[in-house]
Amino acid sequence: MTTTSSMQGLKRSCYCGQMRAADVDKTVTLTGWVHRRRDHGGVIFVDLRDREGLVQVVFDPAAIAPDVFNLAESLRNEYVLGVTGKVRRRPEGSDNPNLKTGEVEILAASLRVFSPAKTPPFYIEDDVNVEESIRLKHRYLDLRRPKLYQALALRSKVNQSIRGYFTANGFLEVETPILINSTPEGARDFLVPSRLRAGEFFALPQSPQIYKQILMVAGIDRYFQIARCFRDEDLRADRQPEFTQLDMEMSFVEKEDVMDMIEGMVAAVFAEALGLALPRPFPVMTWQDAMERYGSDKPDTRFGLEIVEVGDIIAGTEFKAFTSVLDKGGRVKGINAKGCAGFSRREIDDLTKLAAVYGAKGLAYITIQNDGEYKSPIVKFMTEEQVEAIVERMEGKPGDVLFFVADTFPVMCAALGHIRLKLGEILGLIDPDKFDFLWVVEFPQFEYSPEEKRYVAMHHPFTMPMDEDLDRMESDTGKVRAKAYDIVLNGVEVGGGSIRIHQRQVQERMFQVLGFTLEQCRERFGYLLNAYEYGVPPMGGLAIGLDRLVMLMLKRDSIRDVIAFPKTQSAMDLMSSAPSAVEGKQLEELHIAVVAKEEES
Ligand code: AMO
Ligand code: AMP
Repeated sequence: MTTTSSMQGLKRSCYCGQMRAADVDKTVTLTGWVHRRRDHGGVIFVDLRDREGLVQVVFDPAAIAPDVFNLAESLRNEYVLGVTGKVRRRPEGSDNPNLKTGEVEILAASLRVFSPAKTPPFYIEDDVNVEESIRLKHRYLDLRRPKLYQALALRSKVNQSIRGYFTANGFLEVETPILINSTPEGARDFLVPSRLRAGEFFALPQSPQIYKQILMVAGIDRYFQIARCFRDEDLRADRQPEFTQLDMEMSFVEKEDVMDMIEGMVAAVFAEALGLALPRPFPVMTWQDAMERYGSDKPDTRFGLEIVEVGDIIAGTEFKAFTSVLDKGGRVKGINAKGCAGFSRREIDDLTKLAAVYGAKGLAYITIQNDGEYKSPIVKFMTEEQVEAIVERMEGKPGDVLFFVADTFPVMCAALGHIRLKLGEILGLIDPDKFDFLWVVEFPQFEYSPEEKRYVAMHHPFTMPMDEDLDRMESDTGKVRAKAYDIVLNGVEVGGGSIRIHQRQVQERMFQVLGFTLEQCRERFGYLLNAYEYGVPPMGGLAIGLDRLVMLMLKRDSIRDVIAFPKTQSAMDLMSSAPSAVEGKQLEELHIAVVAKEEES
């Protein structure tokens, strides 16, 4: 066959996946990939696939010319075809209820092969059971799977919905630069060497933070952007080195205004992209409350199983391992594992190991046996009244196990918070169909970094402290709370933001508390501080991690499953083999010399 044009004279009339009984008797032209070919008693069946789904195409030698039939016989999986034919009802009893197109088939009249294909390294289907690295290397094949198409389609819908919402609310979509200055705060920067200025570097933005604040100084008033961000940090299932934020900022607002605007956006996105009405307003919890009750600043509120204070009761006991923690300013709290008295030694050991991962020195327990007797390595250090008081406080009933951790507040929270999540999973308390949003507010402004031996900003250094804490920024730094807010969904931080400092003096004080010298401030943030001398509106904003939001909307486990071309855990693109070495000439132009990594002996 001679090729006259790319499409060889064909024009697609509809998608394969759209064929329905109502189309019977229509003549259609379909294009797509061979999902599977079967030969049945001289008749060839091809499941033809495009992004909308599969349809069965029948090549019947009685209905087509021999050369067309011969061509059909040569088809292999993933060949790309164009087929013209008539839609017909499938014969009685051969409907496929698993396919949306399962009532019909296409009786082929003509066939074009646009391109052949090698046998793919894995079969294109959703339940593909092959290593992720192979899928990532052949991402173009992986993306042919309906699940990934669905993820990209939902993402596109979400973006559209976000743009509609913000535009309707008077926001301007503004692009901020990708080549910016490195900032010595937050995660590690990706650097880009400058060719024109030897020895100097751009950094890729970790977020458009400073630029959006400057846009407010510029009077833009309401800004949003679907922005790519870059952070060179250790990766996990919900972190990528480049990811996408829905970023926004508003002038002349308090935090409630920002939260309300974001809630409206999230509700619009869920309504338009998933057809779900979210109950509003979203609940609000202080950071302190979240930590005390759930041991986490991003609690999964789809289930209870809250953490309970027992320090006051423990204080009066003879259990030195616990009272010594209290004496040093630590905390003792517990969690009631309802109905888990039957846990084996092994199951308790596993939970103890889990607590240890987060730094706990042990996991004490009191098992309330069905006869009401206690089994516990710690009740011997307490009076009967003390044990009863604990059991009553924790609503312990026969059949329950009470677990305890004594440690510094952060370690106790992390250990019991993760035990709680594990118990929620073991006990089947987590409803996978729920979408539980929560605002966490009043975050600490600072957190002490033992490595850096200084306070670092918990959110970022542009966040405004709460009015009542502003005066103790220098004197009682650790106690200062921020006008910051996180939006949490099902135990995942999907977004965060704050009201910003808009007074130059306060911003300079903030940098000093964070241990920057005036010189460092001028060098790194001089342009912001300069801008702050020319009239700054009060402002606040927030950024949503779009990949994480879409991941949760689709109930996927990893953001890699909702990103077209993600990087691996080790920050590589397996398809293109990035990063890779470059030619010496390129390095020379950039005034860069690579120092060979020392051989590890
Ligand atoms: P923050 O650093 O909290 O705030 O980031 C906002 C949201 O971005 C998502 N996110 C990530 N997603 C995937 N991979 C990553 N490596 C990653 N890092 C963060 C999270 C997070 O909640 N400029 C501020 C926002 C503001 O104050 O307005 C900022 O970037 O879902
Ligand atoms: P011990 O008397 O040290 O053997 O501890 C008795 C029990 O308390 C053991 O089950 C330990 O795992 C537990 N335990 C000891 N220290 C802690 C701690 N800081 N937090 C929680 N449990 C602890």
